[in-house]
Amino acid sequence: MCGIVGYIGTQDTKEILLKGLEKLEYRGYDSAGIAVMNEMGVHVFKEKGRIADLRAIVDNDVTASVGIGHTRWATHGVPSKVNAHPHQSTSGRFTLVHNGVIENYAILKREYLQDVNLVSETDTEVVVQIIEKFAQEGSHIEEALRRTLAILKGSYAIALVDNEDPETIYVGKNKSPLLVGVGDDFNVVASDAMAMIQVTDQFVELMDKEMVIVRKEAVTLKKLNGEIVERAPYTAEIDASDIEKGTYPHYMLKEIDEQPLVIRKLIQKYQDETGILTIDTDIIQATQQADRIYIVAAGTSYHAGLVGSQMIEKLAKVPVEVHVASEFNYNMPILSEKPLFIFISQSGETADSRAVLVQVKDLGHPALTITNVQGSTLSREADYTLLLHAGPEIAVASTKAYTAQLGVLAIFASVLAEAKGHTVEFDLVQDLGIVANAMEILCDEKEELENLARKFLSTTRNCFFIGRTMDYYVGLEGALKLKEISYIQAEGFAGGELKHGTIALIENGTPVIAISTQEQVDLSIRGNVKEVVARGANPCIISMKGLETEEDSFVIPAVNELLSPLVSVIPLQLISYYAALHRDCDVDKPRNLAKSVTVE
Ligand code: G6P
Repeated sequence: MCGIVGYIGTQDTKEILLKGLEKLEYRGYDSAGIAVMNEMGVHVFKEKGRIADLRAIVDNDVTASVGIGHTRWATHGVPSKVNAHPHQSTSGRFTLVHNGVIENYAILKREYLQDVNLVSETDTEVVVQIIEKFAQEGSHIEEALRRTLAILKGSYAIALVDNEDPETIYVGKNKSPLLVGVGDDFNVVASDAMAMIQVTDQFVELMDKEMVIVRKEAVTLKKLNGEIVERAPYTAEIDASDIEKGTYPHYMLKEIDEQPLVIRKLIQKYQDETGILTIDTDIIQATQQADRIYIVAAGTSYHAGLVGSQMIEKLAKVPVEVHVASEFNYNMPILSEKPLFIFISQSGETADSRAVLVQVKDLGHPALTITNVQGSTLSREADYTLLLHAGPEIAVASTKAYTAQLGVLAIFASVLAEAKGHTVEFDLVQDLGIVANAMEILCDEKEELENLARKFLSTTRNCFFIGRTMDYYVGLEGALKLKEISYIQAEGFAGGELKHGTIALIENGTPVIAISTQEQVDLSIRGNVKEVVARGANPCIISMKGLETEEDSFVIPAVNELLSPLVSVIPLQLISYYAALHRDCDVDKPRNLAKSVTVE
């Protein structure tokens, strides 16, 4: 979702801001803009569309050493040049970019801005106009910003410049992510470290309701009451080359191919010096005290949670409930006596999950976050963190983070099982190694999977995925991948459920992708395939070696059944990728979607 960058230093700001915004493109956006400030005043450039469109209108003759930039994912008002950030106050004195949602913007508008002519439909413009209002009443900019932040309800990350104070960027944060990067003779502002990793790897985390005064030579953190906060920077461990595409046409394809490596790296990261898989004893102890685990997540991470719940229940024999964060937030079930919460989130920033975490912490329950981003909000605010070690995931559609989530959940489940005295009947290190090898084999079968995408999906308007138990959960993820990037209407169903209504949608030629990796339900899912075929469906059966029959379209290598989702998802990811390519879709940046969903 919206991304923010800012720079103050000695170099020409434009290029640093534009490059930073390009690094934030992966988050999803529909318009972009920058504002740079020099002795002639503030120069704002903004455009609907991509950063390339913005680049085309930026005046190369304007040089400046202070500036802010923004990618906007529309919430209030359509994607347009007028609604794009930065927004300016009527006099032009203040210029601001904002990420988040100001929930009380309409009330504030009525209360403070009756006499102000707003030019955009955004909640953001209200903020910059109120800052101007307070400044006109005599407040110094810092005071005007502080007074404004104090009356905002909702989420915000804000960067503000004042053309009467050209040596400073003012920053405020509540709920939405924002970091300040520090360097020699320059400082930067960024929604995530990736945006500015080219110029610094030293970042200061900001907590909610803090503001920062960023100057070329100093960064001052304050609470909203003015009290100064001291916080040392941390080193962001991102290799700049990890965020390049290399020779790949798309990040998504690169990230699919990285999966075997990610699983091998995970094994290493979670092994102790004797080769035994291990999880921080505090985490295992806290989990052992729990009578029930609640997994809370969104999107692909929710699908990983479903698979994870089976792993934990089967191996460690602890009951697990899996919940969609945005629902749990408003509709919390009656909790068990000693719950433990697991938040699964690639980005660690999903606002819905964070809202649940805040409630859970208020109730005093322990929380563990499983995330790819060290130092992310969900990681910082939970009691414990397990990292995915998947490297930056740039494509909006999640692939390697999903399989890494499954890998971590499997390790967690088996270590917990051992700690609880339940014997795990297989060697997980060995079986994850077999999974990584199987993934590699599948990544080499792109041509065959591209042919399947062409055969089943080139003209269809919809597609169903069916499976039972673990395969049902993978079907949900397969359907999500397909709809996210190819815009084919796709639904995942439990094999037995389709006939209770949705089978009415099966017509001649409707593709039904059936997954069969679980011996116990192999015959039942094949029975469900017969039911849809009898109604004209075009079946594509993906089975696991050992269960295959002649009618199957694709066979995946045999792996431990409990780990099969790590492997069976790969053909589904690749089929979706090729279906999207065949339809000329923007694979890495699908329409309407954001990678990091920082609004509820
Ligand atoms: C967005 C992304 C999905 C992702 C979901 C949860 O909707 O487009 O790919 O699965 O957010 O994100 P998280 O970072 O919490 O895993």
